[in-house]
Order: sequence, then C-alpha cells, then structure tokens
Amino acid sequence: MGSPAFVPKCNAKLLILMTYVVTESCIKCKYTDCVDVCPVDCFREGPNMLVIDPGECIDCTLCVPECPVEAIFAEDDVPDAQTAFTALNAELAKIWKPIIERKPAPADADEWAKVKEKKNLLER
Ligand code: SF4
Ligand code: F3S
Repeated sequence: MGSPAFVPKCNAKLLILMTYVVTESCIKCKYTDCVDVCPVDCFREGPNMLVIDPGECIDCTLCVPECPVEAIFAEDDVPDAQTAFTALNAELAKIWKPIIERKPAPADADEWAKVKEKKNLLER
C-alpha cells in the first residue's frame, strides 16, 4: 500500500477590502481635502456632497484625517445614525462624476459645518 495522498494545508487568509463611506457631515460643506490624497481617485461629486465608489476604494485610510468635519468612516465604523449612507455612497457613485482635484469649498461651508442634521438637504 502506498502512503496516503499528500494534502497541502493552506493558511492563506482571504484579503477582503472594506470601503470607506462619506456621511452626513459632508453635505453643504464639501471641503474636498479628501480628494487630493486618494491614490485611486474614487471620490464622486454631487451638487452638495461627495461619495466614495465602494468598487474602487482600496481601504487605505488616507482620506479620513483630511476631512475637517470628520465625515469619512470605515464601513464597519459608520455611526448607527449614519448607516444609510453606506448604500447611498454605492448608489450615487454610479451616477455622479469623478472628482480628482481639490476645489474651493462653498462660501458658507464653515457655517454648515456646525449643523448636525442635514440629511434632508442632500441634492442628487
Ligand atoms: Fe481613497 Fe483611500 Fe479614502 Fe478609499 S480610503 S476613498 S482609497 S483615500
Ligand atoms: Fe466632504 Fe470632508 Fe471630503 S467635507 S468633500 S468628505 S473633505
């Protein structure tokens, strides 16, 4: 009798990329500091907010500290009140155009930065 067939062990873990999500604080602020640091240009621009294309984001975290209003979270860390923005980023990223360079924020961005409840002001 021969020895049993050799079965190799595989310890490799699957590499699963997360996405990052732009949330409510971005609405009417749109500072765009985040855009400049993204190595894969995965921000998309709407009339008064940006979103991240989840199919392009490489989970590098570079954009998170750049946002003056802390609007960007890892998918797993999105606050409970903001979870709708995960699907919203995915949906709007299919419609909105890429933005690859920083641009001046709206003149009243600093005023809107103090406003917490802005969901209903999102323009598509
Ligand atoms: Fe771009 Fe990295 Fe931010 Fe994803 S986490 S949006 S790849 S800067
Ligand atoms: Fe919005 Fe912050 Fe970027 S306000 S445009 S997520 S820097």
